[in-house]
Amino acid sequence: MTGEPARGGPALLGSYARAPVTFVRGSGCYVYDDQGREYLDFVAGIAVCALGHAHPAIAEAVSEQVRTLVHVSNLYHHQPAGLLAEELVRRCGLSKAFFCNSGAEANEAAIKLARKLAYRRGEKDRTTILACAGSFHGRTLGALSATANDAYKEGFGPLPEGFAFTPFNDIAALERNMSETVAAFIVEPIQGESGVHVADRAFLEAARRLCDERGALLIFDEVQCGLGRVGPLFAFQAFDVTPDVITLAKALANGLPIGAMLVAEGAIDGLQAGDHGSTFGGSPVPCAAALAHLRVRDEQRLEERSAERSDYLFGLLRELAATFPSVLEAPRGLGLLVGIPMRDPYRVADVVAEMRDRGMLVGSAGGNTLRLAPPLIVTNAQIDAFAVALAASVSGMLTRSPDH
Ligand SMILES: Cc1ncc(COP(=O)(O)O)c(C=O)c1O
Repeated sequence: MTGEPARGGPALLGSYARAPVTFVRGSGCYVYDDQGREYLDFVAGIAVCALGHAHPAIAEAVSEQVRTLVHVSNLYHHQPAGLLAEELVRRCGLSKAFFCNSGAEANEAAIKLARKLAYRRGEKDRTTILACAGSFHGRTLGALSATANDAYKEGFGPLPEGFAFTPFNDIAALERNMSETVAAFIVEPIQGESGVHVADRAFLEAARRLCDERGALLIFDEVQCGLGRVGPLFAFQAFDVTPDVITLAKALANGLPIGAMLVAEGAIDGLQAGDHGSTFGGSPVPCAAALAHLRVRDEQRLEERSAERSDYLFGLLRELAATFPSVLEAPRGLGLLVGIPMRDPYRVADVVAEMRDRGMLVGSAGGNTLRLAPPLIVTNAQIDAFAVALAASVSGMLTRSPDH
């Protein structure tokens, strides 16, 4: 199907390079296109559908909530947001939750909270948001300013000021760059977009220590790597380093739009009534879906299962890298967030298309890296099927000229 014109969306703005396939339904780890073709989904809506597609518990919670109360705004309380906040802060040990609609918005909230907290403390020059080389924090102007990749920023200036970058996993550079103007250091414990790079535990520990010593907040962007994607419910729990602020989105409501900022007690004064808001943020339907998601995870003990699946997947991918060393490098990542760098001149876009033709959905990330983020409910049999298709795709590419 590669090369066919896109079906179904001629009126959509061309801001995405969509693949030429139109999906009409999903079930578990599979999605189905408008031609009735089945695809095994190893990208899960970019690390979103942790419980797979059309999960009955999510469907039930959403339809029940839609019949009960859809929207009242944040002028009032409603139960789903209050309950979800309680569940999240109980599970991470931080103190309060703020809800919004996306990962970028969660990071916007975190940036505003960090700056306003310093301002309230009388430190009006403490405005810098320090981020990492290779970071991705979203496409809104503030989150984009904290994003390293210049290609995403080109032509959108002037961007907000007060953002600086430090090399990922470089403790000495962090020591140098953590000046007294830094309001917050924001870091993804596992960088997704730049090619799936795992932070060193020592780097995150140093970040914690330096933020404490120098009066900055430590923000973990767990938008992609949180919510069990890399093992424990929160990515910080895999490193034993507790941040002051966690941002979440993607998998939180298993596909309904929601973002969250979780804040430690010492930072909750950053945002007070009137400082920040969102009409839809934390509205009843996505909150009900997120509560159902957390309930199902507990019932299915997903955290433990994801560790087993991760070991199995990494084992097969290491074998594939050893079988095709001229095309694939060893896999990187943690849990079920995996990057497989491809060697020049083989291009990740070609494998993504090959795999789609074989009924397998995979993603790509920076650095010519294949990105895998299957639903956390994926089975070993599905991992086997995926590995067989990847081996066939790669050997198909090897028999052709790499520049085809
Ligand atoms: C680490 C990280 N932060 C933030 C975002 C932005 O999230 P959203 O697309 O929901 O705005 C993403 C999206 O891929 C992400 O991976």
